[in-house]
Amino acid sequence: MEEEDQALFIQEPQHRPSVSTMEAQGIPVIDLSPVTSSNPSISSIDALVKEIGSACKEWGFFQVTNHGVPLSLRRNLLEASKNFFSQSLQEKKKVSRDESSPSGYYDTELTRNVRDWKEVFDFLAKEPTFFPVTADELDDRVTQLSNKSPQHPSHFRDIIQEYIEEMEKLAFKLMELIAMSLGLQPKRLEEFFMRGQTSLIRLNYYPPCPFPHIALGVGPHKDESALTILAQDEVEGLEVKHKTHQEWVRVKPTPNDYIINVGDIIQVWSNDAYESVEHRAIVNSEKERFSIPYFFFPAHDTEVKPLEELTNEKSPSKYRPYKSGKFLLSRMNSNFKKQTDENIQIHYYKLA
Ligand code: OGA
Ligand code: NI
Repeated sequence: MEEEDQALFIQEPQHRPSVSTMEAQGIPVIDLSPVTSSNPSISSIDALVKEIGSACKEWGFFQVTNHGVPLSLRRNLLEASKNFFSQSLQEKKKVSRDESSPSGYYDTELTRNVRDWKEVFDFLAKEPTFFPVTADELDDRVTQLSNKSPQHPSHFRDIIQEYIEEMEKLAFKLMELIAMSLGLQPKRLEEFFMRGQTSLIRLNYYPPCPFPHIALGVGPHKDESALTILAQDEVEGLEVKHKTHQEWVRVKPTPNDYIINVGDIIQVWSNDAYESVEHRAIVNSEKERFSIPYFFFPAHDTEVKPLEELTNEKSPSKYRPYKSGKFLLSRMNSNFKKQTDENIQIHYYKLA
């Protein structure tokens, strides 16, 4: 990152990482072999669906093993990510993100108006990706976004594309399990992703930080996605807000497993049965850390609202509909530029 004024990174006291952290009990670990092995039994799938349902309800976060994504692919992408970020700032800036496209490199992201101690490379899962031109709800214009590809490492684009395919497969499997756990048809949520997606993969690089007690790698936030699949390296940093204790729980590094979290869109579809849970990443003064989230998003013009099957007279819809792409764009704009207002949050769409 560029030498910058330390003050930009300083978190409000209540957001600083030194507050008590619950270590004892971690997020649930779920074995996906019933849906990744060749001949699963119905009873093992039923049990898996129940596990997923309670993890989504109680934590909004879980870890998956036997997920079917080749470990070599993940290692290769982490390696490529390290190679990319180890270049000079000047090299990295050749593929800088700009306001016309969310894809590319940048080191200036804000979360809730405070700078994150990180560098990022964003890559769209689909090319082109159809996206609104502005976040204004009355503006119907749509644009086509494409990716920026670094020259180095040379195989970057191939690896990232191969990895995205694996992420998508896993995301569809998880969506089926989540749908079933909500009592829906297994393919109920698939339709939202078939007309297009705004899914995005992000390479996160958290350099060592000289003042880790007052800054954060990524400030507390909820993901705007339907769900997120996170690969993290062997350095810890991710913390999840425990839903009932409201304390930060450190997630142990998971070099072979993936961390899954429910995003804002599932929260709305499920009419709050499953909530998008706040999380953040802390940094440390010695080690660098790499993580790779894949954010699974439906087509930009998807009208997100509670599903009919999950609402009735007794439990009416808790949200007014919103367009997935408009919400994402509005958040992206606010993460790019410091604003005077709090940035957009899913509770803005909540009906009183
Ligand atoms: C994110 C995120 C956590 C991490 O990028 O949205 O929550 O551990 N990252 O890097
Ligand atoms: Ni996140």
